[in-house]
Amino acid sequence: MCGIVGYVGRQDGVPVLLEGLARVEYRGYDSAGLAVAKGGALRVHKKEGRVGDLAASLPKRLSGTTGIAHTRWATHGPPSDVNAHPHVDTGCDVAVVHNGMLENAEELRAELQAAGVALASDTDTEVLAHLIAADDDVDDLEGAVARVLQRVTGSYGIAVLHAAQPDRIVIARNGSPVIIGIGERETMVSSDVAALVRHCRQVVHLDDGELATLTKDGFQASTLGRRPSPKQATELDRAPEEYEKGGFQHFLAKEIHEQPEAVERALSGRIEDRFATAHLGGIELTPRELRAVRRIKVLGCGSAYYSGLMGAGLIEALARVPADAEPAAEFRQRNPLIEPDTLYIAVSQSGETLDTLLAVEEVRRKGGRVLGMVNVVGSSIARAVEGGIHLRAGAEVSVASTKSFTNTVVAFALLALHLGRVRDLSPADGERLIAGLRALPGQIAEILEREDEIAAVAERLAPAHSAFFIGRVSGFPAALEGAQKLKEVSYIHAEAYPASELKHGPLALISPEMPSVCVVPDDHLVAKNRSAIEQIRARGGETIVVAQTSVGDLADAESLVPRCEPELAPLLLNIPLQVLAYHAAVELGRDVDQPRNLAKSVTVE
Ligand code: G6P
Repeated sequence: MCGIVGYVGRQDGVPVLLEGLARVEYRGYDSAGLAVAKGGALRVHKKEGRVGDLAASLPKRLSGTTGIAHTRWATHGPPSDVNAHPHVDTGCDVAVVHNGMLENAEELRAELQAAGVALASDTDTEVLAHLIAADDDVDDLEGAVARVLQRVTGSYGIAVLHAAQPDRIVIARNGSPVIIGIGERETMVSSDVAALVRHCRQVVHLDDGELATLTKDGFQASTLGRRPSPKQATELDRAPEEYEKGGFQHFLAKEIHEQPEAVERALSGRIEDRFATAHLGGIELTPRELRAVRRIKVLGCGSAYYSGLMGAGLIEALARVPADAEPAAEFRQRNPLIEPDTLYIAVSQSGETLDTLLAVEEVRRKGGRVLGMVNVVGSSIARAVEGGIHLRAGAEVSVASTKSFTNTVVAFALLALHLGRVRDLSPADGERLIAGLRALPGQIAEILEREDEIAAVAERLAPAHSAFFIGRVSGFPAALEGAQKLKEVSYIHAEAYPASELKHGPLALISPEMPSVCVVPDDHLVAKNRSAIEQIRARGGETIVVAQTSVGDLADAESLVPRCEPELAPLLLNIPLQVLAYHAAVELGRDVDQPRNLAKSVTVE
C-alpha cells in the first residue's frame, strides 16, 4: 500500500525520489506525488495514476536537494490529483506525506474549518500540514511536528518538509514503518527498504512514538516528548538487483525461478546432522519449554495463512503436537482464548500486514507467546514477536507470494523437526527429513525445467471462467494456495475444495466448462484421490492433475513432481500450481506483478 520516500543530500533529489517511488510501486497505489524545497519555496506535483505519469508531468527543470514523495492507496477520499500526497497548508510552507490513518481527522478538520481554513482535499493527512504550519514556533520544525502529533490519534508514518528549512526533513512513526537510510553525505527515509537500496548501505528503524530530523550529514532521533532516543544502524540486507527483473519478463517468473536458491538459504546453517535436528538460533525456547507446548496456532493472511495450514500439517505429522492455522483477523476479532501452553506463530512475508500485527498484539496483551516467520528484517511484526525464524527468501516484489510461501513451509519443516526431536521423533526419522529437505532445491529446479509443459497446460486452463482445485488432507493446503494464485494473477475464478467434500455439493457444478485441478501426493490416499478424479470425469469435467505418480488416462493434462519425503510433498506439488497460474495470467494478458485491486502489503484492517 502507500509508500514514503524522502531525500536530503548533495545531489538533485528529484531523480532519487522518482526512482524510490518506482521501487515502492509494487506495494500497490493509485496516485503519486512529490515536493522539493528550493529558494525558500516548495514545489509540489501530484498525479493520479502511475509514477511514470507523475514523472512525465514534471517541469523539465524541477530540482532540489531536499524532497519528499509518496505513492497513495486511497482511504479517505477517492484517488485523484488533489487527494494525492504531499499535502500542504494554505501558504504552501509545509508539505506532509503520510502512511496510515488518523482516527480524529474529522474532529481536526472541523476545528480547522471553524478557524477559517479552506481544506483542499478529502484526506486525513491534510490536517497535519495546516496544524504544523500554524504552530507558534514552526522555526523549530521538529518541535512543531511533535506538538501536532500529540494531538493526533491513529497510525502514521510521516515525512515533513518546510519551505524555510530546506536542509532537513522531519519524520515520525506510530504504527506504520519509517526507515532511515544512511548514505555518503545523503540521508533518505522510506517506508520500505526497497527505496533505499541504491543509495544507502545502513538503515535505522524508527520505533513507534519516535521522531527524527534528517539532514545530509545524518539524523537525530527523539521521543515525542523530545527526549533523545539513541538508535543503532544496521547493515541493509538487500541488494539493488533484488528489485530488478534480471532478464525475466515479470518479477513473478523471476521469483518462482529463485526458489531453489531461496530454499538453500532457508536451510543454510540450520541443520545439525549430529543430532538429526534443526538449529534455530532465533527461537529463544529451551527444550523444556518446547516440550511444554501443547498446541500450536498459526496466524497469517492470504498465502501466509495457507502456508500456515501446510506448516500445521508438518508439525502434527513430525512433532505430533496438535496444530492449526487461522486467518489472523478472524482470530483476533472473535476474542480468542489465549492458552498458556499454546505457542502462536505469526507468518508474514512483509511483516507489515496490519491484521496479522494486531493479532500478534492481541496474543501478547493476553500473555501468550508468539514467534514470527517473517521475510523482512526489522519489519513491524518481526519487532513485535518474541523471536522466530527469518524466512530468508530475499526481496519479493510480485504481489503474488511464491518464494516466501515456499520458504515459510521450509521454516515450518525445520521447526517441526526441532520440536519433534525434543519429543518423540526418532533420529532415523530426523535424518530422513533432513535428507528430504536437502533434496528440495534440486527437485524444485527439476520441476521448473519442465516449465514449457506446464505452460501448455495453462493454455488449456486460460479460457475457463471458473475452476476447482481439489486436494485431500496434506494436499488440501496446496489446492487452496493453487486456487489463490490462479485467481489473483489470472482473475479466473478458482475455488479449492477438499476432494472428499466434492460429492456433498460442488459436484453439481461439474461440466465440460469447469475444469478441476487435482493435487495428488503419493500418500495413503492415492486411491481415494483417483476415485474423486473419476467422479469428475464421469460428469464430463476436465481434469488437470498435479501428482507424484501418473494417474494415466484419468488426467486430461498432467504435471508430475519428483517423489520426496511424504511430509514435503505438498511443498513440491505447489510449484507447478504457481507456474500454471503465472502462464494462465500471461496468456490472458494480465498485469501479472500488480494484479488489479491488490496490494503486496495490506497495512489497513
Ligand atoms: C496481501 C497480498 C497477499 C499476501 C497477504 C499477506 O493480501 O496480496 O499475496 O499473501 O497480503 O501478506 P504478508 O506480507 O503478511 O505475508
